Amino acid sequence: MTDLTRPAARSFKPRRRGLSPPRAEAYAAASAAFGISVDGPVLSLPDEFGRAGPFVLDIGFGAGEALIAMARARPGECVVGVEVHTTGLAAVLEAITAESITNVRVVDGDVIELLARIAPVALDEVRMWFPDPWPKQRQRHRRLVRADVLGALVDKLRVGGHLHLATDVQDYSLQMQLVCAAEERLGGGVVERPAWRPTTRFERRGSVAGRGSVDLVYVRLR
Ligand SMILES: C[S@@+](CC[C@H](N)C(=O)[O-])C[C@H]1O[C@@H](n2cnc3c(N)ncnc32)[C@H](O)[C@@H]1O
Repeated sequence: MTDLTRPAARSFKPRRRGLSPPRAEAYAAASAAFGISVDGPVLSLPDEFGRAGPFVLDIGFGAGEALIAMARARPGECVVGVEVHTTGLAAVLEAITAESITNVRVVDGDVIELLARIAPVALDEVRMWFPDPWPKQRQRHRRLVRADVLGALVDKLRVGGHLHLATDVQDYSLQMQLVCAAEERLGGGVVERPAWRPTTRFERRGSVAGRGSVDLVYVRLR
């Protein structure tokens, strides 16, 4: 199994915004119902969802537009979303409560910590769409798609499971391809943008700025 130690530099800037008192109260109630703690023993995903899967990990769902759109479009999938941004976490919890969406669980925390709670080969799919780009050379070590994190994610994917990455940062897409090519358990590469992948504000902002997005899909081969 890949040994993953948390690096000194995190892959995110903490954005712990306070919620208004009524929103904080709703957040606490919804997290009690649909939240999974980032710490604790190894999870049984079938027990968490009361279903046999398929299980999808959505890493860094931001404001949650894509996560919610996918949960609606694919009610058969059980999605664990992990994010550190309070407003995004609250938005997803509000949507799942308001729409009685039953196939989403939310983790408030760093995916690197959460990985210790996920059993080997427990996941059918990992999505990491538009991870923080950390564009400056001196910040690149903060990027989430790097060999140790990727190895730990592949440990959690079942054989035949998928890893779907997307970015609108050209050199990050090259880094993703290099890191994935070096992981011998994966096969795959750049694909045409799937029409079903929801567009989020990050992607829209990039396309307004003239940046096209790149989708990469890999399968765990062994
Ligand atoms: C650029 S946003 C993209 C959001 C979303 N996937 C989308 O496509 O709209 C990247 C998100 O990843 C989150 N993130 C970064 N590192 C993370 C980590 N280690 N664990 C959980 N979330 C993380 C950030 O807080 C941020 O909201």
